[in-house]
Amino acid sequence: MKVLVAGGTGFIGTNLCEELAKRGHEVTALSRSPGDAGLPDGVESALGNVSAYDSIADTVVGHDAVVNLVSLSPLYKPPEGTSHEEVHLEGTANLVRAAEAAGVDRFLQLSALGADPDGETAYIRAKGKAEAVVRESALEWTIVRPSVVFGDGGEFVEFTKTLTTPYVTGLPGGGKTRFQPIWVGDLVPMLADALEGSEARSASEASEQGSRADDAHVGEIYELGGPQIATLADVTELVYAAEGKDVTIVPIPMELAKLGLSAIDSLPFVPFGPDQGRSLEFDNTVADNDVTAFGRDPTALRTLGSYLGLEGTRHRAKPAETA
Ligand SMILES: NC(=O)c1ccc[n+]([C@@H]2O[C@H](COP(=O)([O-])OP(=O)(O)OC[C@H]3O[C@@H](n4cnc5c(N)ncnc54)[C@H](OP(=O)(O)O)[C@@H]3O)[C@@H](O)[C@H]2O)c1
Repeated sequence: MKVLVAGGTGFIGTNLCEELAKRGHEVTALSRSPGDAGLPDGVESALGNVSAYDSIADTVVGHDAVVNLVSLSPLYKPPEGTSHEEVHLEGTANLVRAAEAAGVDRFLQLSALGADPDGETAYIRAKGKAEAVVRESALEWTIVRPSVVFGDGGEFVEFTKTLTTPYVTGLPGGGKTRFQPIWVGDLVPMLADALEGSEARSASEASEQGSRADDAHVGEIYELGGPQIATLADVTELVYAAEGKDVTIVPIPMELAKLGLSAIDSLPFVPFGPDQGRSLEFDNTVADNDVTAFGRDPTALRTLGSYLGLEGTRHRAKPAETA
């Protein structure tokens, strides 16, 4: 297949481009500042801004599939002049329109757990509205909603360090928000499978089949999580344990944290605002782990502790089925 990966130079994108190229697909990574540095061998780059239709329409032509991985991080306040609506909703609408105009078959949309047009944060609302645009399109779509994703180049571990300090740290609500972190190395083969069809296949099988994928995952919404559920407090302990540091969590009442974030919202050098506070009120876990739709055993996926080099040591994250 000829696959255009919008946001292909980002964290998940670079890994997905590498996986698709390894499977024998022709891959182009589109972003606003592409360059070839850091892109896997054999992956082409293209310049485009999904918020500007004319800058992407010609690039989409000639592709069999489009993957939308364009992101504005929900973990930090959006930079001045940007918004989740512009990047996640308008960007998706432009990509969908360009794909329909170009006769693209498959469209894979990376969404987020809890995506809801009436949700509590701007990110979740934009993701929910973007899902509706994808679902209502004429394309053969698949939507994937992962929990937080960890791996080299990801921001989840660094974000935890930005939010906290070693030894003694305050956390809104005592850090009880639950996550189900999934390793990027587990996620991207499933994304590639979602594009190709039912089974993960070798490069030779993929090229034998030619440019068409089968439709096993078309019209599906998948919620994907890792093998364990960890609270923000658990993750904080893990992250500092990996550095050989203990941490004691001091709970900050959620209402107080939200009040504080509202008060400092207008300060440009403070990276968090009320939306980031609100997002900590909702768990980021899956009800049923759809990794099984890709033939994966949820308990066999990589844990955050193992990624951080803490395998076999005491830590508080629990297997998802018992948490
Ligand atoms: N990482 C996670 O934990 C996680 C969890 C759940 C869902 N997701 C979803 O997964 C997707 C990928 O996330 P990620 O973590 O890989 O994001 P990322 O590392 O921040 O990468 C974002 C990519 O989008 C590009 N981009 C941003 N704005 C653009 C625009 N206007 N036009 C074209 N390209 C643009 C960036 O390149 P330029 O800046 O050069 O344009 C970059 O290639 C997103 O949809 C995200 O919401 C991620």
